[in-house]
Amino acid sequence: MELTDVILSRRSIRSFTEKEIPSDILEKVLEAGRVAPSSQNKQCWRFVVVQNEEIRKKLAFKSGFIGKVNFFIKNAPVIIVACADPSRSVHLNEQDYYLVDTAIAFQQMILTAWNYGIGSCWLAAFNEKKVKEILQIPDKIRIVTLSPFGYPKERPSLYDKALKTFAGSKKRLPLEKIVCYDKWEL
Ligand SMILES: Cc1cc2nc3c(=O)[nH]c(=O)nc-3n(C[C@H](O)[C@H](O)[C@H](O)COP(=O)(O)O)c2cc1C
Repeated sequence: MELTDVILSRRSIRSFTEKEIPSDILEKVLEAGRVAPSSQNKQCWRFVVVQNEEIRKKLAFKSGFIGKVNFFIKNAPVIIVACADPSRSVHLNEQDYYLVDTAIAFQQMILTAWNYGIGSCWLAAFNEKKVKEILQIPDKIRIVTLSPFGYPKERPSLYDKALKTFAGSKKRLPLEKIVCYDKWEL
C-alpha cells in the first residue's frame, strides 16, 4: 500500500482470528519501532512481545483497570507492551518526552503491521501495576501502552462494534478546527 493509504485506512481492531503472525513480518514491525526518531536519539523505548498463550490470557483478563475490559485481546496471537525508561529520555519544557518517543515508535509499528494486514488497538485502559507484575517489569520502567496484534476477523464482534460506536471512532474534527496559520486562531 502507499503510505497515505496505510494511514487513511488504519482503524482500531478489537476482534482477531487466531492466525499466527509470521516471524519475519513480526520482525519488520519491531524494526519499524527500532528506527523511529526520539528526543536526542535516546531510544528510551523497550518492548515486551508476548506470544505465550498463558501470559496473553493473564493480560487479557487481569490487566484492565475496570474488570475484564481488555478481554478482547485474548485471541490476538501477539501482544506488544510498549515500555520506556524515563531516566533515558529527555525532560524539557516541563514535558516528559519518553511518552512522545515511545508513542512515535509504537505508531510506526502499528502502521507497518497494518500494511501487512495486521490489526491492533492502542490501549490506555490497563492497570500498570498488574501488567508489571505479570511481565516482571522493573519499577523504574513505565508502561506507555499495549496493544494486541493479529489478523482482523472478517465479522467484527459485537463488543468491537459497540466500542467503535461508543468512542465515535469514525469521527474526526475538521481541519479548520485543529489547524490555524501564522497565529493562534482556534
Ligand atoms: C492513547 C490511546 C489510548 C487508547 N486506549 C484505548 C483503550 O484503552 N481501549 C480501547 O478499546 N481503545 C483505545 N484506544 C483506541 C481509540 O478508541 C481509537 O483510536 C479511536 O476511537 C479512533 O478510532 P480508530 O483508531 O478506529 O480510528 C486508544 C487510542 C489511543 C491513541
